[in-house]
Amino acid sequence: MNKHTQLGMNRTGIQMSPLDTAKLKNIAAEVPPDVGGNSDVLAAFRGKFVADAEPIGSVPVPGNLKGLVGTAMEKLTGHHIEVLVDKLGERLAFERTGVRLYEAILAKTSALEDISEPLVQALRRFRNEELVHFELVKSVLLQLGADPTAQTPCADAAGVASSGILKAITDPRTTLAQSLDALLAAELIDNAGWELLIKLAGHVDHTEWIEQFQLALKQEAHHLATVRLYVENEILRDSAALR
Ligand SMILES: [Fe+2]
Ligand SMILES: [Fe+2]
Repeated sequence: MNKHTQLGMNRTGIQMSPLDTAKLKNIAAEVPPDVGGNSDVLAAFRGKFVADAEPIGSVPVPGNLKGLVGTAMEKLTGHHIEVLVDKLGERLAFERTGVRLYEAILAKTSALEDISEPLVQALRRFRNEELVHFELVKSVLLQLGADPTAQTPCADAAGVASSGILKAITDPRTTLAQSLDALLAAELIDNAGWELLIKLAGHVDHTEWIEQFQLALKQEAHHLATVRLYVENEILRDSAALR
């Protein structure tokens, strides 16, 4: 695996073939897009689909009727508990994916020769912490009487949004720096996700959950700062490497 940024025969830019540039411009002028007009026309076209679209899914009715989810709980808190369940479902899916992201990047480091041992140790530790976060969210969902195996709408949307991160890291051709950069995006989302969850958990006034979520956020902040530092280190090292 070559981990350095290299010069090579990249033909994606128009400057590679000045003779074909005019032809390309002519074709672009001759062949109109499928939907004519401008961005306003496109927005109106998309708007029709948005207006007619069904929701992406729903938060399932709790399977366990002894659980805390339900009208009694909502009356108690004045908030819709399904919003909390939806976001817990999203966190659950994201933390599970987080474990897979770290495992994929660890597999990449195993193929590299001059890998930093502290980096590998940090990645292993963060992978284990993502798993602990997953178990924490699962346990809170069960305490709420919700089914942790159900995919909530926010979990679905977040899965689609973060699928590119998984693709970038599992692609065997991406460098360690590129993979860490993708991981950085995941950790930024992770931190914002836990911050929001702490606010939502405040609505149900469950001190123990809030404390556990705050500990998870503290660990996520450490993941973020560390991954950001390693991204910078890798790119600066690449930039300074002797070719
Ligand atoms: Fe996480
Ligand atoms: Fe994390």
